[in-house]
Amino acid sequence: MSTAGKVIKCKAAVAWEPNKPVTIEEIEVAPPEADEVRIKIVATSVCHTDLYHLFEGMHKDGFPVVLGHEAAGIVESVGSGVTEFQPGDKVIPLFLAQCRDCRFCKSPKTNQCEKAWVEHRADAMSPLRSRLTCKGKKVYQFSGISTFSEYTVVKQINVTKIDPAAPLDKVCLLGCGICTGYGAAVNTAKVEEGSTCAVFGLGAIGLAAVMGCKNAGAKRIIAVDINPDKFEKAKVFGATDFVNPKDHDKPISQVLFEMTNGGVDYSLECVGNVGVMRSALESTIPAWGVSVIVGWTTLHDFSAPPGDLIAGRTWKGTMFGGFKSKDGVPEMVNAYMNKKLMVDEFITDNMTFDQINDAIEMMKHGKCIRTVLTFTE
Ligand code: APR
Ligand code: ZN
Repeated sequence: MSTAGKVIKCKAAVAWEPNKPVTIEEIEVAPPEADEVRIKIVATSVCHTDLYHLFEGMHKDGFPVVLGHEAAGIVESVGSGVTEFQPGDKVIPLFLAQCRDCRFCKSPKTNQCEKAWVEHRADAMSPLRSRLTCKGKKVYQFSGISTFSEYTVVKQINVTKIDPAAPLDKVCLLGCGICTGYGAAVNTAKVEEGSTCAVFGLGAIGLAAVMGCKNAGAKRIIAVDINPDKFEKAKVFGATDFVNPKDHDKPISQVLFEMTNGGVDYSLECVGNVGVMRSALESTIPAWGVSVIVGWTTLHDFSAPPGDLIAGRTWKGTMFGGFKSKDGVPEMVNAYMNKKLMVDEFITDNMTFDQINDAIEMMKHGKCIRTVLTFTE
Protein backbone atom coordinates (compact mmCIF):
# COMPACT_ATOMS: atom_id res chain seq x y z
CA MET A 1 0.00 0.00 0.00
CA SER A 2 1.45 3.34 -1.02
CA THR A 3 2.04 5.95 1.64
CA ALA A 4 2.65 8.74 -0.90
CA GLY A 5 0.57 11.82 -0.24
CA LYS A 6 -0.45 10.62 3.21
CA VAL A 7 0.72 11.55 6.68
CA ILE A 8 3.00 8.80 8.02
CA LYS A 9 2.91 7.87 11.68
CA CYS A 10 6.24 6.48 12.82
CA LYS A 11 8.80 6.26 15.56
CA ALA A 12 11.20 9.12 16.36
CA ALA A 13 13.45 10.18 19.23
CA VAL A 14 12.20 13.51 20.54
CA ALA A 15 14.37 15.79 22.69
CA TRP A 16 11.80 17.77 24.70
CA GLU A 17 14.34 19.85 26.63
CA PRO A 18 18.12 20.23 27.06
CA ASN A 19 20.13 17.90 29.32
CA LYS A 20 17.47 15.15 29.38
CA PRO A 21 17.35 11.76 27.69
CA VAL A 22 15.45 11.73 24.40
CA THR A 23 12.18 9.76 24.36
CA ILE A 24 10.93 7.44 21.66
CA GLU A 25 7.57 8.78 20.51
CA GLU A 26 5.07 8.24 17.74
CA ILE A 27 5.25 11.28 15.46
CA GLU A 28 3.40 12.38 12.32
CA VAL A 29 5.45 13.10 9.22
CA ALA A 30 3.62 15.26 6.66
CA PRO A 31 3.89 14.52 2.94
CA PRO A 32 6.67 16.41 1.11
CA GLU A 33 5.69 19.80 -0.29
CA ALA A 34 7.16 21.45 -3.42
CA ASP A 35 10.89 20.73 -3.85
CA GLU A 36 10.91 18.40 -0.84
CA VAL A 37 11.67 14.70 -0.47
CA ARG A 38 10.35 12.28 2.15
CA ILE A 39 12.93 9.70 3.19
CA LYS A 40 12.72 6.44 5.10
CA ILE A 41 15.81 6.47 7.30
CA VAL A 42 17.49 3.05 7.42
CA ALA A 43 20.58 3.80 9.54
CA THR A 44 21.71 6.81 11.54
CA SER A 45 24.51 7.53 13.97
CA VAL A 46 25.04 9.85 16.90
CA CYS A 47 27.56 12.62 16.17
CA HIS A 48 29.09 15.10 18.57
CA THR A 49 27.01 17.99 17.16
CA ASP A 50 23.77 16.29 18.25
CA LEU A 51 25.16 16.13 21.77
CA TYR A 52 26.32 19.73 21.53
CA HIS A 53 22.75 20.84 20.89
CA LEU A 54 21.38 18.64 23.65
CA PHE A 55 23.95 19.38 26.37
CA GLU A 56 26.06 22.46 25.61
CA GLY A 57 24.59 24.62 22.86
CA MET A 58 22.81 27.82 23.74
CA HIS A 59 19.68 26.94 21.78
CA LYS A 60 17.35 26.76 24.77
CA ASP A 61 14.59 27.74 22.35
CA GLY A 62 15.32 24.96 19.89
CA PHE A 63 13.11 22.37 21.61
CA PRO A 64 11.26 20.08 21.20
CA VAL A 65 13.51 18.83 18.44
CA VAL A 66 14.28 15.63 16.59
CA LEU A 67 18.10 15.52 16.48
CA GLY A 68 20.28 13.48 14.12
CA HIS A 69 22.04 14.55 10.93
CA GLU A 70 24.32 11.60 10.01
CA ALA A 71 22.24 8.99 8.20
CA ALA A 72 21.32 7.08 5.07
CA GLY A 73 17.93 6.00 3.76
CA ILE A 74 15.58 5.41 0.87
CA VAL A 75 13.30 7.91 -0.86
CA GLU A 76 9.65 7.18 0.03
CA SER A 77 7.98 9.93 -2.03
CA VAL A 78 8.74 13.29 -3.59
CA GLY A 79 6.92 16.63 -3.70
CA SER A 80 5.98 18.58 -6.81
CA GLY A 81 8.83 19.88 -8.93
CA VAL A 82 11.26 17.17 -7.83
CA THR A 83 12.80 15.41 -10.82
CA GLU A 84 16.16 14.40 -9.39
CA PHE A 85 14.79 11.70 -7.08
CA GLN A 86 12.38 8.80 -7.32
CA PRO A 87 10.89 6.51 -4.69
CA GLY A 88 13.38 3.72 -3.99
CA ASP A 89 16.53 5.80 -4.54
CA LYS A 90 19.23 5.30 -1.92
CA VAL A 91 20.17 8.67 -0.45
CA ILE A 92 22.16 10.49 2.19
CA PRO A 93 20.56 13.60 3.76
CA LEU A 94 22.80 16.69 3.83
CA PHE A 95 22.82 19.20 6.69
CA LEU A 96 24.84 21.48 4.40
CA ALA A 97 22.80 22.16 1.26
CA GLN A 98 24.02 22.49 -2.31
CA CYS A 99 21.55 24.14 -4.70
CA ARG A 100 24.11 24.26 -7.59
CA ASP A 101 22.56 27.53 -8.65
CA CYS A 102 23.63 30.33 -6.31
CA ARG A 103 26.88 32.32 -6.51
CA PHE A 104 28.41 30.28 -3.65
CA CYS A 105 27.53 26.95 -5.28
CA LYS A 106 28.94 28.18 -8.60
CA SER A 107 32.25 29.21 -7.00
CA PRO A 108 35.01 26.63 -6.50
CA LYS A 109 36.15 28.69 -3.49
CA THR A 110 33.48 27.52 -1.07
CA ASN A 111 31.15 24.67 -0.19
CA GLN A 112 28.59 26.99 1.38
CA CYS A 113 25.25 27.46 -0.35
CA GLU A 114 23.82 30.96 -0.26
CA LYS A 115 20.28 29.72 -0.68
CA ALA A 116 20.62 27.61 2.42
CA TRP A 117 22.14 30.56 4.28
CA VAL A 118 19.26 32.84 3.48
CA GLU A 119 16.74 30.22 4.49
CA HIS A 120 18.73 29.32 7.55
CA ARG A 121 18.67 32.88 8.78
CA ALA A 122 15.02 33.23 7.94
CA ASP A 123 13.41 30.10 9.27
CA ALA A 124 15.47 26.92 9.23
CA MET A 125 15.01 26.59 12.97
CA SER A 126 11.41 27.68 12.80
CA PRO A 127 8.90 25.00 13.74
CA LEU A 128 6.65 26.46 11.04
CA ARG A 129 8.76 24.88 8.34
CA SER A 130 9.04 21.53 10.08
CA ARG A 131 7.09 18.61 8.63
CA LEU A 132 7.20 16.75 11.95
CA THR A 133 4.61 16.91 14.71
CA CYS A 134 4.33 15.06 17.99
CA LYS A 135 1.37 15.10 20.35
CA GLY A 136 -0.19 17.88 18.29
CA LYS A 137 2.91 20.06 18.54
CA LYS A 138 5.34 21.05 15.78
CA VAL A 139 8.82 19.74 16.44
CA TYR A 140 11.99 21.46 15.22
CA GLN A 141 14.01 19.71 12.52
CA PHE A 142 17.65 19.74 13.60
CA SER A 143 20.02 21.05 10.88
CA GLY A 144 16.98 21.14 8.61
CA ILE A 145 16.98 17.35 8.37
CA SER A 146 16.33 15.37 11.64
CA THR A 147 17.40 11.78 11.14
CA PHE A 148 16.53 10.28 14.53
CA SER A 149 13.20 9.36 12.97
CA GLU A 150 11.96 6.48 10.82
CA TYR A 151 10.82 9.04 8.24
CA THR A 152 11.79 12.64 7.63
CA VAL A 153 11.17 15.35 5.04
CA VAL A 154 14.04 17.40 3.63
CA LYS A 155 14.48 19.96 0.86
CA GLN A 156 15.84 18.44 -2.32
CA ILE A 157 18.94 20.66 -1.99
CA ASN A 158 19.58 18.81 1.31
CA VAL A 159 19.80 15.26 -0.03
CA THR A 160 21.99 13.35 -2.48
CA LYS A 161 21.61 10.10 -4.40
CA ILE A 162 24.23 7.39 -3.88
CA ASP A 163 25.30 4.06 -5.40
CA PRO A 164 22.32 1.66 -5.04
CA ALA A 165 24.78 -1.08 -4.03
CA ALA A 166 26.09 0.87 -1.01
CA PRO A 167 25.36 -0.64 2.43
CA LEU A 168 23.34 2.05 4.21
CA ASP A 169 24.35 0.87 7.69
CA LYS A 170 27.94 1.78 6.81
CA VAL A 171 27.78 4.77 4.46
CA CYS A 172 25.47 6.64 6.84
CA LEU A 173 28.71 7.82 8.46
CA LEU A 174 29.52 9.79 5.31
CA GLY A 175 26.70 12.19 6.16
CA CYS A 176 28.93 14.12 8.54
CA GLY A 177 31.95 12.98 10.53
CA ILE A 178 34.09 11.11 8.04
CA CYS A 179 33.70 13.67 5.23
CA THR A 180 34.36 16.49 7.71
CA GLY A 181 37.68 15.13 8.97
CA TYR A 182 38.86 13.64 5.69
CA GLY A 183 38.03 16.74 3.67
CA ALA A 184 39.66 19.01 6.27
CA ALA A 185 42.95 17.32 5.39
CA VAL A 186 42.58 16.88 1.62
CA ASN A 187 40.41 19.85 0.62
CA THR A 188 41.06 22.55 3.22
CA ALA A 189 44.61 21.95 4.49
CA LYS A 190 45.52 20.49 1.06
CA VAL A 191 48.10 18.22 2.67
CA GLU A 192 51.03 17.58 0.32
CA GLU A 193 52.93 14.39 -0.33
CA GLY A 194 55.86 13.83 1.99
CA SER A 195 54.64 16.34 4.59
CA THR A 196 54.44 16.11 8.37
CA CYS A 197 51.01 16.50 9.99
CA ALA A 198 49.55 16.62 13.48
CA VAL A 199 45.95 15.75 14.32
CA PHE A 200 44.57 16.91 17.68
CA GLY A 201 41.66 14.83 18.97
CA LEU A 202 41.05 11.27 17.80
CA GLY A 203 37.28 10.90 17.71
CA ALA A 204 35.65 10.03 14.38
CA ILE A 205 36.53 13.47 12.99
CA GLY A 206 40.20 13.26 13.97
CA LEU A 207 40.57 9.66 12.79
CA ALA A 208 39.08 10.65 9.44
CA ALA A 209 41.57 13.55 9.31
CA VAL A 210 44.40 11.06 9.94
CA MET A 211 43.08 8.96 7.04
CA GLY A 212 42.95 12.09 4.84
CA CYS A 213 46.57 12.97 5.67
CA LYS A 214 47.61 9.39 4.91
CA ASN A 215 45.77 9.24 1.57
CA ALA A 216 47.30 12.62 0.62
CA GLY A 217 50.73 11.06 1.07
CA ALA A 218 51.90 12.55 4.38
CA LYS A 219 55.04 10.76 5.56
CA ARG A 220 54.57 11.48 9.23
CA ILE A 221 51.24 11.83 11.05
CA ILE A 222 51.40 12.70 14.73
CA ALA A 223 48.23 11.75 16.62
CA VAL A 224 47.55 13.85 19.74
CA ASP A 225 44.94 12.94 22.35
CA ILE A 226 44.60 13.13 26.14
CA ASN A 227 42.97 9.68 26.04
CA PRO A 228 45.70 7.14 25.14
CA ASP A 229 43.04 4.47 24.40
CA LYS A 230 42.54 6.25 21.09
CA PHE A 231 46.07 5.63 19.79
CA GLU A 232 45.55 2.03 18.67
CA LYS A 233 42.73 3.04 16.36
CA ALA A 234 44.71 6.03 15.04
CA LYS A 235 47.41 3.60 13.94
CA VAL A 236 44.86 1.70 11.83
CA PHE A 237 44.12 4.92 9.92
CA GLY A 238 47.80 5.72 9.35
CA ALA A 239 49.15 7.66 12.34
CA THR A 240 52.90 7.18 12.80
CA ASP A 241 53.55 8.95 16.14
CA PHE A 242 51.44 9.27 19.27
CA VAL A 243 51.53 12.05 21.85
CA ASN A 244 49.53 12.41 25.05
CA PRO A 245 49.80 16.04 26.27
CA LYS A 246 49.36 14.71 29.82
CA ASP A 247 52.71 12.88 29.58
CA HIS A 248 54.57 16.18 29.19
CA ASP A 249 55.11 19.13 31.48
CA LYS A 250 55.85 21.56 28.66
CA PRO A 251 53.35 22.94 26.15
CA ILE A 252 52.35 20.44 23.50
CA SER A 253 53.39 22.86 20.74
CA GLN A 254 56.94 22.78 22.11
CA VAL A 255 56.89 18.98 22.25
CA LEU A 256 55.87 18.83 18.58
CA PHE A 257 58.45 21.50 17.66
CA GLU A 258 61.20 19.36 19.11
CA MET A 259 59.89 16.17 17.49
CA THR A 260 59.79 17.77 14.05
CA ASN A 261 62.75 20.14 13.97
CA GLY A 262 60.68 23.34 14.02
CA GLY A 263 57.02 22.45 13.63
CA VAL A 264 54.65 20.39 11.49
CA ASP A 265 53.58 21.44 7.99
CA TYR A 266 49.87 20.93 8.74
CA SER A 267 47.83 20.63 11.92
CA LEU A 268 44.14 19.85 12.32
CA GLU A 269 42.14 20.67 15.45
CA CYS A 270 39.42 18.05 15.85
CA VAL A 271 38.36 18.70 19.45
CA GLY A 272 36.34 21.92 19.52
CA ASN A 273 38.43 23.59 22.24
CA VAL A 274 39.84 27.09 21.68
CA GLY A 275 42.95 26.35 23.75
CA VAL A 276 43.68 23.33 21.59
CA MET A 277 43.07 25.46 18.47
CA ARG A 278 45.87 27.78 19.55
CA SER A 279 48.17 24.86 20.41
CA ALA A 280 47.50 23.35 17.00
CA LEU A 281 48.36 26.64 15.28
CA GLU A 282 51.55 27.07 17.30
CA SER A 283 52.63 23.50 16.54
CA THR A 284 53.03 24.35 12.87
CA ILE A 285 56.26 25.56 11.33
CA PRO A 286 56.18 29.42 11.42
CA ALA A 287 57.31 29.88 7.81
CA TRP A 288 54.49 28.03 6.04
CA GLY A 289 52.44 26.05 8.57
CA VAL A 290 48.73 25.61 7.88
CA SER A 291 46.37 24.93 10.77
CA VAL A 292 42.74 23.98 10.24
CA ILE A 293 39.97 24.36 12.80
CA VAL A 294 37.57 21.43 12.42
CA GLY A 295 36.11 21.11 15.94
CA TRP A 296 33.00 23.15 16.69
CA THR A 297 32.25 25.45 19.60
CA THR A 298 30.29 28.62 20.24
CA LEU A 299 31.21 28.88 23.90
CA HIS A 300 34.49 30.84 23.63
CA ASP A 301 36.45 33.00 21.18
CA PHE A 302 39.91 31.93 20.06
CA SER A 303 43.03 34.06 20.31
CA ALA A 304 46.73 34.02 19.42
CA PRO A 305 49.46 36.66 19.06
CA PRO A 306 49.42 38.23 15.57
CA GLY A 307 53.10 37.32 15.23
CA ASP A 308 52.05 33.67 14.94
CA LEU A 309 50.50 34.47 11.58
CA ILE A 310 52.79 37.29 10.47
CA ALA A 311 55.64 34.80 10.37
CA GLY A 312 53.84 33.02 7.53
CA ARG A 313 51.34 30.62 9.03
CA THR A 314 47.76 30.27 7.78
CA TRP A 315 44.85 29.64 10.14
CA LYS A 316 41.73 28.27 8.47
CA GLY A 317 38.39 26.75 9.32
CA THR A 318 36.40 24.14 7.50
CA MET A 319 32.78 23.05 7.42
CA PHE A 320 31.95 19.56 6.19
CA GLY A 321 35.56 19.21 5.11
CA GLY A 322 35.12 21.70 2.29
CA PHE A 323 33.06 19.20 0.27
CA LYS A 324 30.26 20.54 -1.88
CA SER A 325 27.81 18.18 -0.29
CA LYS A 326 25.60 16.92 -3.13
CA ASP A 327 28.65 16.27 -5.35
CA GLY A 328 31.12 15.17 -2.70
CA VAL A 329 29.14 12.61 -0.69
CA PRO A 330 28.39 10.25 -3.63
CA GLU A 331 32.10 10.45 -4.57
CA MET A 332 33.06 9.47 -1.04
CA VAL A 333 30.56 6.57 -1.21
CA ASN A 334 32.24 5.45 -4.46
CA ALA A 335 35.68 5.72 -2.86
CA TYR A 336 34.44 3.43 -0.07
CA MET A 337 32.91 0.97 -2.56
CA ASN A 338 36.25 0.94 -4.45
CA LYS A 339 38.12 0.27 -1.19
CA LYS A 340 39.94 3.61 -1.32
CA LEU A 341 38.33 4.81 1.91
CA MET A 342 37.83 3.12 5.29
CA VAL A 343 34.37 3.41 6.84
CA ASP A 344 33.68 0.12 8.67
CA GLU A 345 36.66 0.80 10.95
CA PHE A 346 34.84 3.78 12.53
CA ILE A 347 31.93 1.64 13.69
CA THR A 348 32.56 0.44 17.23
CA ASP A 349 28.96 -0.52 18.05
CA ASN A 350 25.69 -1.43 16.36
CA MET A 351 22.36 -0.97 18.13
CA THR A 352 18.66 -0.77 17.37
CA PHE A 353 17.10 2.68 17.24
CA ASP A 354 15.35 2.12 20.58
CA GLN A 355 18.75 2.04 22.27
CA ILE A 356 19.53 5.60 21.21
CA ASN A 357 20.01 6.90 24.77
CA ASP A 358 22.70 4.27 25.35
CA ALA A 359 24.41 5.43 22.16
CA ILE A 360 24.21 9.06 23.34
CA GLU A 361 25.70 8.18 26.74
CA MET A 362 28.54 6.23 25.14
CA MET A 363 29.37 9.11 22.83
CA LYS A 364 29.19 11.59 25.69
CA HIS A 365 31.69 9.58 27.72
CA GLY A 366 34.08 8.87 24.82
CA LYS A 367 33.36 5.13 24.94
CA CYS A 368 32.79 4.72 21.23
CA ILE A 369 33.87 6.16 17.89
CA ARG A 370 30.53 5.69 16.15
CA THR A 371 27.45 3.67 17.05
CA VAL A 372 25.20 2.86 14.09
CA LEU A 373 21.50 2.71 14.94
CA THR A 374 19.17 0.79 12.65
CA PHE A 375 15.38 0.67 12.58
CA THR A 376 13.85 -2.74 13.17
CA GLU A 377 10.71 -3.59 11.24
N1 APR B 1 43.94 17.61 23.54
C1 APR B 1 43.86 16.57 22.69
N2 APR B 1 42.76 15.80 22.54
C2 APR B 1 41.67 16.11 23.28
C3 APR B 1 41.68 17.19 24.19
C4 APR B 1 42.87 17.95 24.32
N3 APR B 1 42.96 18.98 25.15
N4 APR B 1 40.46 17.25 24.79
C5 APR B 1 39.72 16.23 24.26
N5 APR B 1 40.45 15.55 23.36
C6 APR B 1 40.06 14.37 22.58
C7 APR B 1 39.11 13.42 23.28
O1 APR B 1 39.81 12.54 24.16
C8 APR B 1 38.48 12.68 22.09
O2 APR B 1 39.22 11.52 21.74
O3 APR B 1 39.33 14.80 21.43
C9 APR B 1 38.54 13.69 20.95
C10 APR B 1 37.18 14.23 20.52
O4 APR B 1 36.47 13.18 19.97
P1 APR B 1 34.87 13.02 20.05
O5 APR B 1 34.37 13.56 21.34
O6 APR B 1 34.58 11.60 19.70
O7 APR B 1 34.33 14.03 18.90
P2 APR B 1 34.20 13.95 17.33
O8 APR B 1 32.91 13.32 16.95
O9 APR B 1 35.45 13.40 16.69
O10 APR B 1 34.10 15.51 17.01
C11 APR B 1 35.14 16.39 17.33
O11 APR B 1 34.37 18.07 15.79
O12 APR B 1 32.44 18.42 14.57
C12 APR B 1 33.12 18.67 15.74
O13 APR B 1 31.32 19.02 17.30
C13 APR B 1 32.40 18.20 16.96
O14 APR B 1 33.71 19.62 18.29
C14 APR B 1 33.52 18.26 17.93
C15 APR B 1 34.72 17.81 17.14
ZN1 ZN C 1 23.63 27.19 -3.50
